[in-house]
Amino acid sequence: MSAEPLLSIANIAVDYPTKGFRKPPFRALENVTLDIHEGQTMGLVGESGSGKTTLGRAVLGLAPVTEGTISYRGRDITHLNRRERREISSEIQVVFQDPYTSLNPVMTVESILAEPLMVQGTPAAEARRRVAELLDQVGLPSDAGQRLPRDFSGGQRQRVAIARALALRPRLIVCDEPVSGLDLSTQSRVLELFIDIQQRTGVAYLFVTHDISVVRYISHEVAVMYRGGIVEQGEADAVTSSPTHPYTQQLMFAAPLADPAAQAERRAERRRLASLSRP
Ligand SMILES: Nc1ncnc2c1ncn2[C@@H]1O[C@H](COP(=O)(O)OP(=O)(O)OP(=O)(O)O)[C@@H](O)[C@H]1O
Ligand SMILES: [Mg+2]
Repeated sequence: MSAEPLLSIANIAVDYPTKGFRKPPFRALENVTLDIHEGQTMGLVGESGSGKTTLGRAVLGLAPVTEGTISYRGRDITHLNRRERREISSEIQVVFQDPYTSLNPVMTVESILAEPLMVQGTPAAEARRRVAELLDQVGLPSDAGQRLPRDFSGGQRQRVAIARALALRPRLIVCDEPVSGLDLSTQSRVLELFIDIQQRTGVAYLFVTHDISVVRYISHEVAVMYRGGIVEQGEADAVTSSPTHPYTQQLMFAAPLADPAAQAERRAERRRLASLSRP
């Protein structure tokens, strides 16, 4: 594991303003500290309302961070202006749960994927080449570019959203429940795609889910959120097989491990591949 984290979240708090006269703001995150390393997946679990989405939004500059700092490759990105945020958007991308609301319904897939490239000034011919490459990378047929988001299944639409996130070759993707809306067999194929992409590109994920089996499957490290704070974090194997915090124990007991030996072996193999592909 490299010494300097890709993303370093240090003691942040997020306070949402509340409506109403003299009502204090609502503290959604309190003293959250978390490092994400290059090429690795940080799984973020916790019950509904614990602050998982808020943390992802804080990283994207979309939540009001009132204390602490978020650094990307050593640079403080906690409070960027719009221009700086736009510049860093090529490095930090996002995939949401519902691709139907996050993809523009009247744009063809080709124009959805080309848009971020054009904004960065990529010439049209090169953008077309990159779009074809992206479709291939996420396992969509080459004629998918001419179709609209509604012409795809849920799993395929999520592949489009993943391709769009990859367009600018980010180093970090915030994935907020990206498989939660999919049926089980589609879920596992899309998870495989996330892993495959990570092995090929070295991208890191902040992977938000409330599903323990998903987080076991995809994460190198896991952080457990409870009421706006992180109660436990560490190696995925350790946190998911021998949790120390009572809340984590409760979460893990509710989701029995399918095949612990096979999963541990699989993660070891992923770590080996990740260390080979890292520059
Ligand atoms: N824009 C907002 N304004 C005010 N409060 C908010 C806002 N967004 C979230 N909250 C509150 O912050 C807390 C954390 O919400 P968040 O969406 O981060 O939880 P979550 O862990 O992602 O939950 P879920 O698993 O249901 O998606 C909740 O109490 C929520 O009501
Ligand atoms: Mg959420």
